[in-house]
Amino acid sequence: MNILLLGSGGREHALAWKISQSPYCDALFIAPGNGGTQLHGENVQIAADDLGAIAHFVLTHQIDMVVPGPEAPLVAGIYNFFKNRKELEHIPVIGPSAEGAQLEGSKSFAKAFMQKHHIPTAKYREFKKEQIQQGLRYLDHHSLPLVLKADGLAAGKGVLICHSTEEAKAGFSSMLNGQFGDAGNKVLVEEFLKGKEVSIFVLSDGTHYKILPPAKDYKRAYDHDEGPNTGGMGAVSPVAFVDHNFLLRVVDAIIEPTINGLLQDHITYKGIIYFGLMAVNQKPYVIEYNCRFGDPEAQVIIPRIESDLLDIFLHIHQDTLNEVYIRLDQRACATIVAASGGYPGQYEKGESITGLEEVTDSLIFHAGTKRDANGKWQSNGGRVLAISSLAATLTHAVNCSMENIKKIHFDNMFYRKDIGQDILL
Ligand code: AMP
Ligand code: GLY
Repeated sequence: MNILLLGSGGREHALAWKISQSPYCDALFIAPGNGGTQLHGENVQIAADDLGAIAHFVLTHQIDMVVPGPEAPLVAGIYNFFKNRKELEHIPVIGPSAEGAQLEGSKSFAKAFMQKHHIPTAKYREFKKEQIQQGLRYLDHHSLPLVLKADGLAAGKGVLICHSTEEAKAGFSSMLNGQFGDAGNKVLVEEFLKGKEVSIFVLSDGTHYKILPPAKDYKRAYDHDEGPNTGGMGAVSPVAFVDHNFLLRVVDAIIEPTINGLLQDHITYKGIIYFGLMAVNQKPYVIEYNCRFGDPEAQVIIPRIESDLLDIFLHIHQDTLNEVYIRLDQRACATIVAASGGYPGQYEKGESITGLEEVTDSLIFHAGTKRDANGKWQSNGGRVLAISSLAATLTHAVNCSMENIKKIHFDNMFYRKDIGQDILL
């Protein structure tokens, strides 16, 4: 099969690495890809959400399957775009329909879905622009801390945890007054849940589902969860508190009601459901849904999948996911992200990267790199590399990634030194 993978981050490098190992893979193209994806296929200069250009490429290059990495093409409706065109409808797109992608694209949609299907989540109220005064009065009486969420996609910046009413009112007003553009046309005020976070990834063909290993990501920029929120500075899998009992609760209270709810609401969903969960006294609540793999969670989950990913994707397409057994590597996996100084704010690109060839026993997933005219590696993004290691224990996996990341250098590079430490204790 000829595969077109969409996206350009570390998650897409992990997907490209895995897909290229499949006996089903004849040719792999990545749009737009990064320096690392080029090691496993051919990058094509098409934006991941340029549906027209993607369709043209698919038809002119005899593409047999499209694998969207990030949410943008899914929320833009790539699944429906293909299904609604005679010449494209037979080509599998591994992901939900536009409506299914609203689980990530609209927090208001996701909350209404969870309420309707009795899926545990934080209590909330939502307000539109014309209800700003009513919302401000509501905030006067809300317990603290509280959580504000812009309804739409806001590049990971649309969530504010507020510790004072003044802070909440200021954040609420600026969201509704256009801080995030149309994404803030509605704002949700949510109860703060105190607990432990974990991400659970489920593959679904619309009827059947398979659970992948759990992962925890580290969202803050600096050690001890300090500094600004980022896309994720590292991840580990498995997560110790996700034991058999906890997982049973997640299945009963969250996964099955979600799959059944989608079926009941006639929402086509043939892809990945990312459940961002908070365990409060070992009881799981949904903090958010995403419609794709996490980044950098993919860099610890994909290495743990021994089975052929394209075979799994084909079963998703054919509604026969119940027929596959997903073989998992029982070893633990940890990844540590090397980022550019200043990320997630302003940072430099084009710094020379050295030491990659000295890395041993780890996988190097490129997130933001490119090669210069002489073939030398340069940084080309905020998150630059993710160093993933598999080992018998999480401690060994973390140590291996730490040892290897120390061999890599580019100007102003930084990374967290405490990935996994909270779970190892
Ligand atoms: P989200 O973009 O929805 O993933 O939110 C970003 C982060 O905010 C989450 O990973 C949580 O750490 C935190 N968060 C979101 N909602 C809540 C909540 N209701 N209670 C506590 N923390 C939350
Ligand atoms: N690492 C968080 C995410 O991918 O949304």
